[in-house]
Amino acid sequence: MSSQLRESPPPEDSDLPTGIQLTALDPAFREDPYPILARLRENDPIHRDRELGRIVFTRHDDVFEILRDPRYWTDPRKGLEDSFTRRFLGRDDEEPSMLLMDDPGHRRLRNLVRHPFTPRAVERWRPRARAVAVRVIEGIEDGEFDLIESVAKPIPTVVIAELLGVDPEQHARFKSWSDASIKTAFSPVNDPADVAAADRALVELRLFLADEIERRRQHPGDDLISSMLQTDEAGDRLTDAEIVSQCTLLLLAGNLTTTDLIGNAVAALLRHPRELEKLRARPELMKNTVEEVLRYDSPVTNSGRIAHEDMVFDGVEILQGESLSVSLAAANRDPAVYPEPDRFDIERRDTHHQSFGGGRHFCLGAHLARLEAAETLSVLLARFPRLSSGEGETRYAGNPSFRGFESLSVGGERSLGKGGRK
Ligand code: HEM
Repeated sequence: MSSQLRESPPPEDSDLPTGIQLTALDPAFREDPYPILARLRENDPIHRDRELGRIVFTRHDDVFEILRDPRYWTDPRKGLEDSFTRRFLGRDDEEPSMLLMDDPGHRRLRNLVRHPFTPRAVERWRPRARAVAVRVIEGIEDGEFDLIESVAKPIPTVVIAELLGVDPEQHARFKSWSDASIKTAFSPVNDPADVAAADRALVELRLFLADEIERRRQHPGDDLISSMLQTDEAGDRLTDAEIVSQCTLLLLAGNLTTTDLIGNAVAALLRHPRELEKLRARPELMKNTVEEVLRYDSPVTNSGRIAHEDMVFDGVEILQGESLSVSLAAANRDPAVYPEPDRFDIERRDTHHQSFGGGRHFCLGAHLARLEAAETLSVLLARFPRLSSGEGETRYAGNPSFRGFESLSVGGERSLGKGGRK
């Protein structure tokens, strides 16, 4: 960060994209955000977005630095009154979730909940995630189907329900609450009817989780809720309210994102048939494929921090409490860091990316998401040896800060292999 003031700030009336144009609410951005973000990165890499009250960073190195600098805040209540974070993410009357909490509260919570999410702990869930993928994909008939509705949505919800130990008979109710509450989360613009439905769903979900906690207290099992109940860090334990809030965050942060990752992966492979063939021939490329999808078409396009003091960032004056919106999608395609950034290459050597954020808020579910995506893709490719794009509807979703499909039409004939009986 330099302390030199930029000599000639970009003109106020420039026609660079800003505000809603930089979110999936705008049709052009929704369809293909990358040329828009590239234009911003080239012309105004630290962009003051007055419409939404934030400063948008599009260079890889700035995004990397901001995410990892522990001095920045995330608690929306510390944001300026008209800042993006304060207006759209926080509620003054509620403790924020871990995602939007600062230290020392964040450190304490993260310490108490991190154990089941370490790579080693998550690896134990691989057979169960695979079994869920097989069960869901086996149910699909030959012919065309919507990959999002039939595969990408149900698998993460069922996996998280199983991890939480939710009775399979309750999965449908659980899914409907989680779908309703996700619909309005993280969005600056919402239909009031959706907001009311989301509020109702959250109330019901919280009551349901409170019951589940009581049940697990009586009969502990091998699940996340039992593990949260048992965790004890030097006498410190999670309260029931904290467990409920944590479970809700897992649903909000983990379902839509993993759905989008699976959808974006299938779309990228179908649009690049040579890469798809390569992956079929060399399944050992799966791990790198998932990383390349995360870089090439990140399910989360933005994260954010709040300026902790007045500062000058590479010549741009920033006030304490202003929202810093870091574009993960732009960072992942920065030509200063990635050769041919717009090329989808499952053998790319350097697939490091910013899609899971960084620093103390680095995505807790990163290993779980990678594992679910890899298992889902491998089951899908095995069951459908001739997977192709379908003729049905294919449409991007309009959730700001996220990138994924509302529907993705694919066609395929099932194999006759194990579990693929006709
Ligand atoms: C492809 C899927 C996913 C993506 C792209 C993703 C992305 C992210 C991002 C960008 C952040 C914010 C990081 C930052 O600002 O530094 C985050 C935080 C978080 N994610 Fe994920 N996520 C995914 C899946 C999941 C899953 C499956 C779970 C859990 C089941 C999860 C749980 C969380 C939690 C709890 C946080 C807050 C961590 C903290 O504040 O300490 N995520 N994720």
